[in-house]
Amino acid sequence: MTIIIVISGVPGVGKSIIATKLAEKLKAKVINLSKFIIDNKLYVSYDDNRKTYIIDEEKTIAKIREFIEDYKDEYLIIEGHYGEIVPKEYINLFFVLRLHPLVLYERLKKRKWNEKKIKENVAAEILGVPTANAISVLGEHRICEINVTNMNLDNVVNRILEIIKHGRCEKKEFIDWTTIIDFKLLEKFLI
Ligand SMILES: Nc1ncnc2c1ncn2[C@@H]1O[C@H](COP(=O)(O)OP(=O)(O)O)[C@@H](O)[C@H]1O
Ligand SMILES: [Mg+2]
Repeated sequence: MTIIIVISGVPGVGKSIIATKLAEKLKAKVINLSKFIIDNKLYVSYDDNRKTYIIDEEKTIAKIREFIEDYKDEYLIIEGHYGEIVPKEYINLFFVLRLHPLVLYERLKKRKWNEKKIKENVAAEILGVPTANAISVLGEHRICEINVTNMNLDNVVNRILEIIKHGRCEKKEFIDWTTIIDFKLLEKFLI
């Protein structure tokens, strides 16, 4: 039985680079959901306003299922900001990478995105949208948040490897930036 690890989190938190490094350690393949959807034409249209594909959820789920059923290696890593699209019966561990909103803001500014899109994603981080979405599908049990702020890539990968070895994460408190950061600072992303 393949062990399936999902890595979610808003854009910019480090999903792709962490998934790639983790895959090297585990000799696993990585599915990058956005690439998977484009390569397999699993979208219904392109939203020019938001510069993003509108995905065909049913087709995407079916294709992920097909990929998993044919997959033979010990580990598979699936990464993307809507990781909860992976049918839940396949998911062993679901990681959500969390990053300090102000660090995230600076990181996203390096992408050539407009301010509105950057703010939307920082707001999603402040509100913990990827975690909330995952909990609504999976419950809290298999979900592990990792605060990657001030952690280097190796540290993040090692933390994930430890949790995989353990089979579950130790701490179960979810991150709430609104209790840690002055609300005045967060306000500009939320309104
Ligand atoms: N822990 C980290 N420390 C420093 N830089 C990081 C870390 N994680 C990711 N990065 C950098 O942040 C940027 C975004 O990472 P990426 O993997 O593309 O994020 P995502 O796939 O979540 O959008 C990249 O330039 C990456 O090298
Ligand atoms: Mg990525």
